[in-house]
Formats: sequence, C-alpha cells, structure tokens
Amino acid sequence: MSTESKPLVFVTGAAGFLGFQVVHQLLEGGYAVRGAARGRKISLLRKALEKYPQFEAVEITDIATADYTAAFKGVGAIIHTAAPLPGRADSETALKSAIEGSLHILREAQKAGIKKFVATGSMVTFPENAYGPNDWVPVTKEQAVEGNPFVLYIAEKKFGEQAVLDFADKHPDMDITIFCPPWIFGPFAPGFEHIVPEPDFAAFSTDGFVYQLLRSDNVNYHYSPGVLDVRDVARIHIAGLNPLTPDHPKRVPIVSPHDADFREAIKHIYEERPELRGRLADPSTVPVWPTYKIDLDLTPVEKAFGISLGSYKTWKETILDSIDRFIDVENQWTSKGFKFEVPTAPPM
Ligand SMILES: NC(=O)c1ccc[n+]([C@@H]2O[C@H](COP(=O)([O-])OP(=O)(O)OC[C@H]3O[C@@H](n4cnc5c(N)ncnc54)[C@H](OP(=O)(O)O)[C@@H]3O)[C@@H](O)[C@H]2O)c1
Repeated sequence: MSTESKPLVFVTGAAGFLGFQVVHQLLEGGYAVRGAARGRKISLLRKALEKYPQFEAVEITDIATADYTAAFKGVGAIIHTAAPLPGRADSETALKSAIEGSLHILREAQKAGIKKFVATGSMVTFPENAYGPNDWVPVTKEQAVEGNPFVLYIAEKKFGEQAVLDFADKHPDMDITIFCPPWIFGPFAPGFEHIVPEPDFAAFSTDGFVYQLLRSDNVNYHYSPGVLDVRDVARIHIAGLNPLTPDHPKRVPIVSPHDADFREAIKHIYEERPELRGRLADPSTVPVWPTYKIDLDLTPVEKAFGISLGSYKTWKETILDSIDRFIDVENQWTSKGFKFEVPTAPPM
C-alpha cells in the first residue's frame, strides 16, 4: 500500500523501548511518522531513523503541557506510548504525565480533527485473573503517593486508562483503544543502537532484565508472570489503527500465549550462543512460580484486530533475538572504547 492511503501517525515516547519499535514497524509498513521525544533523545532519534525520509522527530518536553498545534498538523492517528516507568519520576510527575498527559493529547487531538488514538496501558491495572472491561486493581491515589514506586506506577496506569476511557465515552466520534501488555521483552528495533551511543542502561527499560542474564552472578528477575515480545506489542498497537470491528473492545489486555521461564531462556542461550556460556546467569537463581504465563483468552484480540493466536513470537525467539541485539550494542560501545559491565541493580 502507498503512504497516500495511510495516515501520518504521531507517536509519543518515540525514543523509548516500545515507542521506537512502534515507529520502526510503522515506517517499514509504509506509514509516515512524526515521533515525539525530549532532550538529547531528539537528535539521537533523528540519527537512528535518518534513512527514512517519511520520519520526522519533534520535541515534546512534557506530554501533559505541550503545545501540539504544530505537532498535530496533518496527523491522522496517534499512538501514545509515553509514560514514566517505575522509579523514573516523582509521584506528582508520574500521575500528571499519565493522566493529564493522555487527556491533554486527546483534547488537542479532538481539536485537530484526529479520530484515531491508540494508547499503551498495562496489565497491572487488572486484578489477578480478572480481565474484564470493568476489572480494576483496587489501588487508590492516596496509596500511590506513599513512596512505593510500583504502587505509584500501577496507580498512574490505572487512572490514566480510566481517564482515556472516560474521554472515549464522551467522544464516540473518536476511535480509541488501549492495549494493556504485561512485562515487555524482546530485541531493540534496528537503529536503536543510535539511541544508546554510550552505556545508558535506563534506556533498556524492562529489557534490562533480559540483559542481566549476561551476568553470571545475576539475581534480578521480573517480579511476576506474563510477558509479551516488544515486536508483538508494537504490531498490535498498529493493528489498533485499523480495527476489524467498529465495536471493538476499548481496553484490551494482551499477553504471550507461550510459557516464559528465564531458566529456559538461560538454557537456550547456553545452547545457541556457546561463546556466551561464561557470562550466563545461574538458572538456580530464577524464581520458582506456579506458572510462567497468564491464561488469557486472546480471541477478542484476533477477532477485533486480526492478531492470530499462532502469530505470537515464541519465548526462544524473544530471548535469542534480544541477546543478539544486546551484543550488537555492547560491540558498538566496546569499539568506541567505553568500559562497562552488566549492572547489578535491577532495572526497576
Ligand atoms: N516495558 C514494559 O514492560 C511495559 C509493560 C506494560 C506497559 N508498558 C507501557 O509501555 C509504554 C512504554 O514503555 P517502555 O518500556 O518503552 O518505557 P521507556 O523506554 O521508558 O519509554 C517511555 C518513553 O516515555 C517518555 N516519557 C515519559 N514521561 C514523559 C513525559 N512526561 N513527557 C514526554 N515523554 C515522556 C520517556 O522519555 P525519556 O526517555 O526522555 O524519559 C520514554 O522515551 C509506557 O506507557 C509503559 O507504561 C511498559
């Protein structure tokens, strides 16, 4: 399909782990993209995607207060991934970014006549094993500000999603979808190495847990079952731009149908990348859980967005492809003379 028939897509958090993957897939899919980033990441983003003339990077310093008048010119759809991860912002900023950030973008989008809006929610907003449209984890705004970064994150995402759904109810002329992934892992999209020209482990986001498999004394693992490959999360967001059914669900939990056990991950790297054997974490340090996946009915995702059950990346693909990209990034740093080691602190 030509770019003429596809809207210009505005992507927030475009230099982030997920946002960059979304932008890359959009560009490869023939979309023109305007990606928002802030600070130094704007120039890094431009460099990373310089081979795509249909990409433009714009500065949005704070999603909650920015003037979008120029940024939304010609835009036909928005994919909103930007939000602070646990520990990355104080409570006021986190809640404001997630709630007011989403609402501000939606209001400005409405003014600009943009009808399609896809946002990244989180599976942490659902209580355990309850994934209905009205199932919410019972965290309060008061609990959010008590000092636990994960409670803050859960609240930020919950109240952010609720604000978006409330807006969607009041504006049925807009097509609004929130996709709620669990832990996101997987390979950096091509070009992401330019986002990390020197050691910057915060930019690895949750993928830092996979990176830490390359440390023999590692003891850090993600804290609960449920994963999804970043490539699947990105393509599902893009599928959200063209739902197959007009009455599609608006808050959509998404998860890998495959078991994701880090013991298996270590074993697979051991077998497939023998040169890394000396660096690998000890499988006996991986937490033992009753299950290594979340049982979720993915039929609604297939019916409404065309994502077939057999199309999700396998755990082995997620792991090996991630590791290969980490090695690319490390090789880049080494060739520039940087000294670094896999961090000992958990990524979040
Ligand atoms: N990673 C996961 O396991 C996971 C799971 C479920 C849902 N999610 C959601 O997925 C989305 C992307 O996460 P990610 O893993 O890609 O994290 P990430 O790499 O940290 O990307 C998030 C991006 O948002 C930007 N951002 C945050 N607050 C902002 C603000 N107030 N104004 C402008 N930009 C802001 C960050 O910019 P800077 O780099 O400049 O700070 C960053 O580029 C988030 O909404 C997150 O809640 C992630």
